[in-house]
Amino acid sequence: MSRRARRGIAPALALCLGGCTGVQSILAPGGRNAGEIATLWWYMFGVGMAILALVAALYAYALFSDPQRRVRPAPELVVATGGMALPIVCFSILLPMTFRVSRLATADVPPNTLRVEVQAHQFWWEFRYDVPNAPWRSFYIANEIHLPAGKPVEFIVTSADVTHSFWVPGLAGKVQVIPGLRNRLVIEGDRPGVYRGECALLCGLSHAKMAFYAVVEPPATFDAWMAHQLAPATPPAEGPARAGYLAFRTHGCVFCHAARGLGAWGRRAPDLTHVGSRLSIAAGTFTTSPAAFAAWIADNQHIKPDNHMLSFAALDAPTLQALASFLESLK
Ligand code: CUA
Repeated sequence: MSRRARRGIAPALALCLGGCTGVQSILAPGGRNAGEIATLWWYMFGVGMAILALVAALYAYALFSDPQRRVRPAPELVVATGGMALPIVCFSILLPMTFRVSRLATADVPPNTLRVEVQAHQFWWEFRYDVPNAPWRSFYIANEIHLPAGKPVEFIVTSADVTHSFWVPGLAGKVQVIPGLRNRLVIEGDRPGVYRGECALLCGLSHAKMAFYAVVEPPATFDAWMAHQLAPATPPAEGPARAGYLAFRTHGCVFCHAARGLGAWGRRAPDLTHVGSRLSIAAGTFTTSPAAFAAWIADNQHIKPDNHMLSFAALDAPTLQALASFLESLK
């Protein structure tokens, strides 16, 4: 192989293999369901490669064998073996495995299993955690879920508008999110870490910007996280964050957004009670930072076209900065 060809192959291979790792890959499973799916994927890959090798061998035989001595099987035999017997054998192996994987996703769970209500919106995710043993207590969070490692969590998914698809490739398979239906998915994350999920069905102009993060963490860390999320926010007492809080109250943010403890009860848009502590804003679009909040408030229709928030381009710079530092302060 020439040096030039080798130089071309190395980056191509790195690119291909790069897709197999990371926070959003079915080939880097972080839990039981995802592990089964990855195993199934490798079996399918193996069967596919075996068929490819067989076809390539037959092709090479047809091209290079001596025409005088070439075996010419009857067409009926080719159809019976390659067209019927081979698919029947392959699918008989793969189909039961597929059924097994599908059953895991809807397995029964013990009583008192943590339940999360998922509601998809154009173009963000709303999660409601109902706290076990205290059913009257719950909290909402947008675009981020946390799961205790080694324990099953039951997700009940539905949509507020159009059909979406809920998918965390590193943790489980997909589930359709359909308005008026309550679909169910059980996820068990075993390997602590941050996984990225996304909407896996074209649902509008900004479908590609409808991601979320799933954090699998040790049960003690998870319990502390949940206790923190349950607590209301406290209004900032001074500084730019205080000015931002007042702007938040007077510029109409509270009509769409909720923030417990801050007198905001809107239900049309993401709950902001602890928004500053989240990994991302705008459904995985930005890493959380004051600059990201400011950019989003002023220019969100450009950043995520057709989302349901107005772009507040007319806000003066000090107000915008104050709002950004207020939101960042909501840890
Ligand atoms: Cu929601 Cu695509």
